[in-house]
Amino acid sequence: MGYHAIITGASAGIGAALAHELSRHGYSVGLIARRADKLDEVAASVRASGGQAAVATADVTDREGLAAAIASLEAEQGPCEVLVCNAGVIGLQYADTFNAEDVVHIMNVNFNGCVYGVEAVLPGMLARGRGQLVAISSVAGMRGLPTWSAYSASKSAVSTFWESLRVELKPRGIQCTTVQPGFIDTDLVKGNKNPMPFLLSPEELSRRVAGAIQRRDGEFTVPWQMEGLMWLTRRLPNWLYDRVMYSNVPKSRRGPRKE
Ligand SMILES: NC(=O)c1ccc[n+]([C@@H]2O[C@H](COP(=O)([O-])OP(=O)(O)OC[C@H]3O[C@@H](n4cnc5c(N)ncnc54)[C@H](OP(=O)(O)O)[C@@H]3O)[C@@H](O)[C@H]2O)c1
Repeated sequence: MGYHAIITGASAGIGAALAHELSRHGYSVGLIARRADKLDEVAASVRASGGQAAVATADVTDREGLAAAIASLEAEQGPCEVLVCNAGVIGLQYADTFNAEDVVHIMNVNFNGCVYGVEAVLPGMLARGRGQLVAISSVAGMRGLPTWSAYSASKSAVSTFWESLRVELKPRGIQCTTVQPGFIDTDLVKGNKNPMPFLLSPEELSRRVAGAIQRRDGEFTVPWQMEGLMWLTRRLPNWLYDRVMYSNVPKSRRGPRKE
């Protein structure tokens, strides 16, 4: 049996594409998400291509449920060598309809879901002295994006959390890989009305992410054009950043101006 990679959010989009790609690289894949029917479809198509796949349903915000799902996949396919924390959601926040519950939900899925995943696999990886923790974060975590405040905050939290872990875990044989994709053509961004430059397919992204996993990169921002754009964006002074990014707030949501 090859190395075992467990992927959360594997029922659709990037997670499903990554399941195929890692399987092609010889991993047996353990697939986690909430929709059992979609997981079964992904697993069946991985197996039809000659790969090995097992599924377990869990909501990543359910700490015990996620731990149990990971334990069942490990019992079936062996210890988790690579955990890909990919499950994620997005949502828009507008000043006039601000609601803390929406923000907390996004943080729970995108950030706490990763933390619970790490908690479930880390003791085993430490005992074996090897493993890889991969977070599918986002370039959205590099600066605060208007109307995507919770999403930006959740991805910023994931990226810095992974960086902290990376420093501490590398000497113990465990690599932490932070993936920061730009726009990927999945259901997550279907309703996005703003421009999505350098859009990639989930399959193309997965090919590149599989490379980053194999190279055991610490950080991987993709595509390179978006990496360059974010490099520039991070260096913009706030007065200019605010002016440029305000164009992403829909006119109908701007309210009366006070300056
Ligand atoms: N698309 C982009 O432009 C883009 C860019 C940068 C980063 N990303 C990140 O990439 C990751 C995957 O996104 P995607 O674009 O592939 O989105 P997607 O097509 O909407 O897929 C999201 C996946 O997450 C799962 N999921 C959502 N909530 C969950 C929960 N509470 N518990 C368990 N699984 C859950 C969904 O499965 P179930 O509904 O079956 O549970 C689904 O498999 C996310 O972390 C996202 O932030 C996406």
